[in-house]
Amino acid sequence: MDTEKKVLIVVTILFAAVIGWIGIPFFQAEAGITGTKHDLSQLTGGGYWTGSSDQVCIFCHTPHNASSTQTPLWNRQETQETFLAYDSPTFDGENYFADQVGHQPRGDSKLCLSCHDGITALNSLLYSFEGPINMLGGFDQLGDVYYPGSPYSGDMGPNIGENFPGSGGSGYTVNNLSNDHPISFAFNNALILDDAHGGDAQLRLPPNGDAVKLYGVNQDQLECSSCHDVHDDSYGSFLVKPNTGSSICLTCHIK
Ligand code: HEC
Ligand code: HEC
Ligand code: HEC
Ligand code: HEC
Repeated sequence: MDTEKKVLIVVTILFAAVIGWIGIPFFQAEAGITGTKHDLSQLTGGGYWTGSSDQVCIFCHTPHNASSTQTPLWNRQETQETFLAYDSPTFDGENYFADQVGHQPRGDSKLCLSCHDGITALNSLLYSFEGPINMLGGFDQLGDVYYPGSPYSGDMGPNIGENFPGSGGSGYTVNNLSNDHPISFAFNNALILDDAHGGDAQLRLPPNGDAVKLYGVNQDQLECSSCHDVHDDSYGSFLVKPNTGSSICLTCHIK
């Protein structure tokens, strides 16, 4: 073997070793939940949440003994709160809620609120094959815990339900979804017509295959997950796609 070939082989081996060592993926690794703010585990969760479980999925799913009322294989206690829903003089969604009175969160949005109500404990699981999971510092509700360095400390941030069990909550309306984008109502062609009031449509359904999706058995429910992907933080704020130029909003709003 001549020297040039030897050098090439050595260089190739070194290159492969360095790539392997610093972990540069040749194929872009799939984005996932591990290491995001939705990873509450001891091992990869950033050390903010629990010192007693290295399981990532368990905070939301369990393979056995899961909820018989909520899917997918849901492992959390349901929020017991009643929320104040969004309304406005120009909001036409009123008649598109399954419950005509309370306009309560349902489906996938109710799953989110089992943590984001600010009061249901992060570790109130239906089943844990490793026994009860303790949260660090005894702080176990989004209403009283933000990870160190969180941009939200002192503000509501992820505490969408605006409950503050640990710190009072004075000055805030608790169980408040009235200042959040409306959710858990059917977004369909009938609503688009209603909303147009005989004029031009100002809403459109997300195109097939778009990252913005509707949920429920008829796949017509606007839920938190229409804008957020709980397992993927590639675009920040667990958004389903980049919101550059408000592209998430413009998927449905003709503005
Ligand atoms: C913070 C809560 C949370 C954690 C942690 C979590 N999930 Fe999920 N998962 C959800 C929610 C909520 C849904 C319902 C779909 C939706 O709203 O996006 C879901 C849906 C799913 C589904 C069915 C639908 C789909 O999107 O494929 C699978 C499978 C799943 N999760 C697997 C996992 C696995 C495996 C883990 C651990 C590596 C995990 N999840 C961790 C909240 C979570
Ligand atoms: C197991 C509890 C749990 C569930 C269930 C859950 N989250 Fe979260 N979520 C968290 C925690 C913990 C944080 C980080 C809180 C903080 O920043 O202090 C968070 C943060 C977020 C953030 C802010 C991310 C950022 O970059 O600041 C968004 C957005 C979010 N969650 C959306 C959702 C949506 C949508 C769902 C339902 C599909 C959901 N979450 C379900 C626990 C949960
Ligand atoms: C119509 C789209 C849409 C819906 C529906 C929606 N969100 Fe968001 N959410 C966003 C966008 C966009 C951001 C990022 C805001 C920003 O960066 O200023 C965000 C931010 C957040 C944050 C970060 C904290 C904050 O205030 O910035 C949390 C937590 C969150 N959403 C949870 C939820 C939950 C829980 C639901 C359902 C109850 C929900 N979202 C429904 C679009 C939506
Ligand atoms: C999945 C589709 C969808 C997405 C994505 C979406 N919206 Fe909406 N939005 C709706 C629907 C449907 C309504 C209810 C319209 C009505 O009935 O008047 C609504 C209501 C609203 C309203 C209240 C209208 C009123 O009359 O009170 C505002 C403001 C709004 N959206 C802004 C936004 C912004 C900003 C974003 C991006 C962060 C966004 N929306 C993303 C579908 C969507």
